[in-house]
Amino acid sequence: MNIRFQVSKPVLCGNERRYVIDAIDSGWISSNGAYLQKFEHAIAKMLQVDECLSASNGTTALHLACLALGLRAGEEVIVPSLTYVASANAVRYCGATPVFVDCDLKTWNASAEFIERAWTPRTAGVLAVHLYGLPTDVAQIAELCRDRGAWLLEDCAESLGAKVFGRPAGSFGDAATFSFYGNKTISTGEGGAVHVRDPARRRHAKMLRGQGMDLERRYWHPILGYNYRMTNIAGAIGLGQIEMLDFHLAERRRIAKRYAERLHPLEVEGLLQLPAQIAGYEGTYWLFSAVLTAGGEKRRETIMRYLARDYGIETRPFFVPMHHLPMYASGEKLPNTEFLSAHGINFPTYTGLRDEEIDEICAAITDLVRRSA
Ligand SMILES: Cc1ncc(COP(=O)(O)O)c(C=O)c1O
Repeated sequence: MNIRFQVSKPVLCGNERRYVIDAIDSGWISSNGAYLQKFEHAIAKMLQVDECLSASNGTTALHLACLALGLRAGEEVIVPSLTYVASANAVRYCGATPVFVDCDLKTWNASAEFIERAWTPRTAGVLAVHLYGLPTDVAQIAELCRDRGAWLLEDCAESLGAKVFGRPAGSFGDAATFSFYGNKTISTGEGGAVHVRDPARRRHAKMLRGQGMDLERRYWHPILGYNYRMTNIAGAIGLGQIEMLDFHLAERRRIAKRYAERLHPLEVEGLLQLPAQIAGYEGTYWLFSAVLTAGGEKRRETIMRYLARDYGIETRPFFVPMHHLPMYASGEKLPNTEFLSAHGINFPTYTGLRDEEIDEICAAITDLVRRSA
């Protein structure tokens, strides 16, 4: 059967087309131009910070953040094992060691307690991830980092617009990064952004992004830099997208509410775990996700296969734990991460997915989960 419901798709329903044409007509198609500046201002405004830098993608944004925070070879960074590989790789690009920690079974994110337990004298910082648009315990983690004199980097690739007690995710740490890949809440095709709180470090990040060139003196490159810049065309798409951010977030929250209502019976029957509702935590439900309570990876794969084959519903498994990947394999056991990774599923979540369609998807999920129990 053909796939009728994709896991995600970009919806460019605002001024994106008009801005892109304008960028092309203006001749500013490369990494300078008004749209880039406007897009950067809009992200900074949303984050309630002074300045944000665009980047070529979320991975280069993470690399820039780690470098700007001064991460060096030999140091350690505490990273949740349940994340996308880019979080760990950015640490490794700097020659440092990601130290993987388990996640909480309720929030699906690394808790301050797990992070504290992994602390060593070589810990330079913590890379906290707000997974699948669900906020992590960032206030407690920020406090822990402050107490220990370490930095905090928030990977908000999947959580643009999430809030913790009214404060935007990404505004707690010493730095924060975002991704605007095609499947994200808002997209620029490929794209990312980085916020660095300290102005001197931010200038350093800006230099690193632009081949290490001095910000006042052209072709003077006092440091080894990179070309991690976004284009003005991507910035034009980004501006059109971010103007519609509230709409896209409202859509995702409507979709999540409908899924949660329709899948609630499975939760009551103890067959499915839904995202936790935690007071003060406003998730964005980048991808609405749920976790089977038993059966292992094999049952999860069977359910996913039948959803695609018999109902045309595309789904995604949760990430493979970082500590299972060849370059990071340590042989250690992180039981919560391993459980969630083997039982978690991401469901179709995109602007415009209609309530009746969600009902249809949930009926299929309910049928397969019950039959395979
Ligand atoms: C948690 C997390 N961090 C980082 C990234 C990297 O972003 P990008 O794909 O834009 O490089 C992603 C992207 O999928 C992500 O999910």
